[in-house]
Amino acid sequence: MDQANNLRNLLNRAEKTKEQNRESMDLSSRVITVTSGKGGVGKTNFSVNIAIQFSKLNKKVVIIDADFGLANIEVLFGIMPKYSLADVLRGDKDIEDVLTDGPMGIKFISGGSGLKELSNVSERQLSYFINNFSYLDAISDIIIIDTGAGISRSVINFIKASDETIIVTTPEPTSITDAYSLIKTIRMESVKLPAFKMVVNRVDDENEGLEIYNKINKASSKFLDINIENLGFIPYDNFLVKAVKKQEPASILYPNCEFTRCISNISYKLMNIDYTIKGKNLGIKGFMKRLAEILNN
Ligand SMILES: Nc1ncnc2c1ncn2[C@@H]1O[C@H](COP(=O)(O)OP(=O)(O)O)[C@@H](O)[C@H]1O
Ligand SMILES: [Mg+2]
Repeated sequence: MDQANNLRNLLNRAEKTKEQNRESMDLSSRVITVTSGKGGVGKTNFSVNIAIQFSKLNKKVVIIDADFGLANIEVLFGIMPKYSLADVLRGDKDIEDVLTDGPMGIKFISGGSGLKELSNVSERQLSYFINNFSYLDAISDIIIIDTGAGISRSVINFIKASDETIIVTTPEPTSITDAYSLIKTIRMESVKLPAFKMVVNRVDDENEGLEIYNKINKASSKFLDINIENLGFIPYDNFLVKAVKKQEPASILYPNCEFTRCISNISYKLMNIDYTIKGKNLGIKGFMKRLAEILNN
């Protein structure tokens, strides 16, 4: 064999190995949906600060702002993104272009006007779009989806498509009943349920948090056959209110305040689990595929 042939074989082999490596590598990220029954319970502050805690644990995090129409994440970061998810759905931008850099290596995507574009697209467009999302699987370990509140269609669809849903509630009676109603709605509509987890925010003390978790979990286990995992509580903390006003995450500005300490505990709890869900539709690519199926049905 001449030298050119040898070289060609060598290159071919290298190409093949690269391909095999790519296939065997698990590139999917863990997708966590953050939601609530009632609005204003602390979802966005939770999402932003849990992202920072994950980042401290050396995880690469992307936050998707799915509370459409309201610019939540960007306001808390005090950063103005140029583009939004809506630009990707319209086909004007690729997913790489709409990622904005937040603090501590976190990246986020502004929701923009929403996902209306995801229904009524052609099969080809849809598959292009879903493949586009796999870029996020490649660059992140954890993707946090901060949804809107209430039992709106879009929130329900997001929960139905997710593997893991964190419900944020407060001790307010309406917040508790709305959280339960949301779980009930998902129960009635879904065949495959996500793992439900709960955070009780703005409590006076640990006992109050535990009491509220027990109340909701008891009802949900008994009447809906859904067991909710308790992730813990977050106290009312003035340092958080101060941080919101300064448009900087409390976890960075006040690393030792009660709020930050509790969020940090929750991040450990979330990282501690043996997170292995086997299947084909993993990661954000799998999530988007399921969401598109739901929206087009
Ligand atoms: N643990 C807390 N302690 C004090 N205030 C809080 C706490 N959590 C949330 N808040 C207040 O509630 C407001 C709404 O929080 P936000 O995260 O925007 O809620 P959501 O995303 O659920 O609408 C915040 O601006 C803050 O003033
Ligand atoms: Mg919000």
